[in-house]
Amino acid sequence: MPTRPQAPAIQVQGLEKSYGKLRVLRGVEFGVARGSIFALLGSNGAGKTTVVRILSTLLKADAGTAGVNGFDVATQAADVRESISLTGQFAAVDEILSGRENLVLVARLRHLKGPGKIADDLLERFSLADAGARKVSTYSGGMRRRLDIAMSLIGNPPVIFLDEPTTGLDPQARLEVWQAVRELAGQGTTVLLTTQYLDEAEHLADRIAILHEGRIIVNGTLTELKQLLPPAKVEYVEKQPTLEDVFLALVGADSKDRNVGTNA
Ligand SMILES: Nc1ncnc2c1ncn2[C@@H]1O[C@H](COP(=O)(O)OP(=O)(O)OP(=O)(O)O)[C@@H](O)[C@H]1O
Ligand SMILES: [Mg+2]
Repeated sequence: MPTRPQAPAIQVQGLEKSYGKLRVLRGVEFGVARGSIFALLGSNGAGKTTVVRILSTLLKADAGTAGVNGFDVATQAADVRESISLTGQFAAVDEILSGRENLVLVARLRHLKGPGKIADDLLERFSLADAGARKVSTYSGGMRRRLDIAMSLIGNPPVIFLDEPTTGLDPQARLEVWQAVRELAGQGTTVLLTTQYLDEAEHLADRIAILHEGRIIVNGTLTELKQLLPPAKVEYVEKQPTLEDVFLALVGADSKDRNVGTNA
């Protein structure tokens, strides 16, 4: 696999993209270090998927440059494609096939040796070994997501893009996906993920960037981002009684204190 280790995993400069009159990206800039997890945050329609599509060579930018694994997305698209995998916002697994068959299929398409062993190893790694022989149509959302991520790892691409990897998953399934992403980064894979869940970025990412109105408005570690706000001030507010306070005052916090407030 072609790799240029001296270059950052991802380097984006002055990226612009419009759809008709809609100026979605207006000069996006960021870099991602090798082996790190970078979270791109933004509201619905901010342009996160647009950035991911440009970086994965599915879409051409109007202006600016982007490099992935040391290759230019516009002029070295084939090298970029060999360097990445993309897990889209909607799972791309084949429902009719079993989990194992999906993995074997992708390994074959990538002309890898020992597709069966590759599939079995990934099933094991993503806790899908027991379900491997079952049709994907019987999988839960979390299982599909994990299979989707497992499929994207076939061939060990140095850079992976995860577009909203945990949208729609229950808390347990999200934790499982997070664990899988952490393991990837631990093995040196660079991960760029988009998310709308702030806690996801908080728990997973080495650096977090916020895409807003076409630009990256902040980019830093969680600690750096937190320092952007002034330290919490102590405020004195009149405390309104809660229903619990009222209840306890009326019936007494315990039996000895039944006549609280009546001076008896
Ligand atoms: N092919 C297209 N044609 C026209 N407009 C598009 C196209 N693709 C995206 N857009 C618009 O560009 C904007 C950015 O879309 P994008 O999918 O990049 O946002 P996003 O940040 O990924 O949003 P979400 O959080 O909903 O996934 C949106 O307003 C969207 O409607
Ligand atoms: Mg999107």
